[in-house]
Amino acid sequence: MSSETSHWRLDGTDTTLLVVQDHAVPRLYWCGSKLKNDTILSQLLAHDDSALAFGGMDNVTPLSLFPQASTGYTGSPALNGHRNGHAFAHSMRTTGVSQSDNTLTINLVDDHAELSIEISLSLDIQSDVARMTTTLSNTASTPYTVDWLASATLPMPNKYRQCLTQHGRWGLENQTHRRNIAPGRIDISNLHGRTSHEHAPSLICGTAGFSNNGGDVMFAHLGWSGNFSLRVERLSNGTISLQAGVLYLPGECILEPGEQLTTPAVTFTRGSGMNQCTQRFHQHIRTCILPEWTRRARPIHANSWEALYFNHDPDALLPLIDAAAGAGAERFVLDDGWFRHRRSDNAGLGDWFIDESIYPEGLHPIVQRTRQHGMQFGLWFEPEMVNPDSDLYREHPEWAMHLEHVDTPLARNQLVLDIARDDVADYLFECITSLVHEYAIDYIKWDMNRDLVLAGDGQRARAAAQPKALYRLLQRILDVCPGLEIETCASGGARADLAILEYTGRVWTSDNIDPIERASIQQGFLRFMPPEIMGAHVGHKTAHLTGRVTSLHTRAIIALQGQFGFELDARRLDSQDVITLQHYTQLYKSNRDWIANSTYWQLSTYSKSLIACGYVDDTQDHALYSVVAIGNMHPTRPGHLPLSGLDPEKVYTLTLESINQTELAPFNKMIPSWCESPVVTTGELLMKIGVPLPVMPPQSALLIGCHREVQS
Ligand code: GLA
Repeated sequence: MSSETSHWRLDGTDTTLLVVQDHAVPRLYWCGSKLKNDTILSQLLAHDDSALAFGGMDNVTPLSLFPQASTGYTGSPALNGHRNGHAFAHSMRTTGVSQSDNTLTINLVDDHAELSIEISLSLDIQSDVARMTTTLSNTASTPYTVDWLASATLPMPNKYRQCLTQHGRWGLENQTHRRNIAPGRIDISNLHGRTSHEHAPSLICGTAGFSNNGGDVMFAHLGWSGNFSLRVERLSNGTISLQAGVLYLPGECILEPGEQLTTPAVTFTRGSGMNQCTQRFHQHIRTCILPEWTRRARPIHANSWEALYFNHDPDALLPLIDAAAGAGAERFVLDDGWFRHRRSDNAGLGDWFIDESIYPEGLHPIVQRTRQHGMQFGLWFEPEMVNPDSDLYREHPEWAMHLEHVDTPLARNQLVLDIARDDVADYLFECITSLVHEYAIDYIKWDMNRDLVLAGDGQRARAAAQPKALYRLLQRILDVCPGLEIETCASGGARADLAILEYTGRVWTSDNIDPIERASIQQGFLRFMPPEIMGAHVGHKTAHLTGRVTSLHTRAIIALQGQFGFELDARRLDSQDVITLQHYTQLYKSNRDWIANSTYWQLSTYSKSLIACGYVDDTQDHALYSVVAIGNMHPTRPGHLPLSGLDPEKVYTLTLESINQTELAPFNKMIPSWCESPVVTTGELLMKIGVPLPVMPPQSALLIGCHREVQS
């Protein structure tokens, strides 16, 4: 590498991205902690990596920002495509690199294939989170078929050896799996047609054994609500890459002459330990992704679903609203079952008109009662779906995605509408906006309850058009309904990604409200997403999905990790339950503002049966930690739990904020004194030695508060 090597740098608070051009296409030479300004060129020379062994290509085959086989690169290329079998090999050269503020734009062209590429790489200065997209243009006079276009291909340090991904199913989202980065390719391919329960579009890679606070770690996330592929590849030359992009069905992505294709963004950061990367993602999502309204105090929801399911009846709903208000709810949400023909999940989707047989006066009495309590009103929709047993399907069977000669499998008795069609999008827009205006709806729970498999327009595949059409429809609705809040739900958390979060600022994390299972679901969610957008409800004593019985304290403590709410029949709470719930709703209300800007810490526990995490405010004056016993404790003396994020110099009052001492008492012959009355201690001791835990019976939880002692 000569001293003339062109280079560009993007600097954040603690991060530098250094792009160099020593071959035809620039490469990301450094992504990591901030480099000193004066050392760049000499550092480049000192670390020149042009050494070449025998037995391979005659030149170094660099992992560029647009890897291509024409350079001898044998890993996953940036682009797979062709022009009717031709122009499958690409030889891009750089035509320009420009930098404005913290964005680098790299332009490439392949004159023979008649394609051009624009790579946009930017760094958010405050959060140290970077973002990359790739745009492909077809400059020829014939169509070009795209089979694969990576949003980004990122080099990872060749010392990285482990990869952590999140997987799940309905009712058990975000379960983490760690695997080795061995020679070959890890390919997490999602073909569910939505972000999916099965694979989250997020990757964590790092040095062997990376942990909450240790190891060299990189986080990456693909902001896309459809089919995708996440790839981690280790080649014999030591190169390790991370690549992500949309996974196209055969023939569905054809660029006509003059057309462009811009990929979804890959968002990434490299830090020290997972907590640091998590904290950066939270900050970036708060300031650069989420709608503005997520900065306002997040109201307590009361949702009708598990209280009534499809048994809608104003005589039941009005007392339910009264009871929810009495327990502290601030927004009442009327879930599935309010529209025509919807007496079960067999029928009605698509008929977005109030069912007059149940609601002869429309929803007015329900909305009025909600507002009388000073609560907001929310309504459930599942706009992208249609039941074959619906007026809409009887009138427009051609609006459902289908392929001639192949039976489309039903899921939850429903089909998917082709919302990329203008007539379908117009119909949904009219139905939704007229109801929002008529009832001054504050919030919509936007559901999507089946996978999009065999997505077609009759003849051809059409999966990738659907998320884009969805984003357009959401934006169109938001344009005429300013202030409307929308939640993303897909049978729980099957559509939680950074693309949908530009339009929706709340996620229904899971249909599983069993607090013990929810603890790991939320832990996985919070690895990338901030707590204030995580819908977290107090469910019934017996969880509907698992049959597990838990105390109201445990349910409330786990729900306090996110946007608090109720998913229960508040009419059935006894007076003691109401007092208990009011304690936790009050705790939520008095802490939610700072939690929405807090620093999140996952805590390492010595026992597999304990899951712990906490929030610390930006002045390090207040912190709340929750500890959940998902199983029986071992050993018998529970020991100390070291906290994270406090100021070692400050003096704190340590308190038990949950009011479940009587639950713990029968299991503790002796109990640490702070569980009975507050104790004053230092941040240093709380972090180095930790909080002495009481014996926690299985399925119990603690909420620990640390508040700065104001010295008189
Ligand atoms: C999905 C959602 C639930 C509920 C039902 C209604 O499963 O995740 O919260 O809204 O649909 O049918």
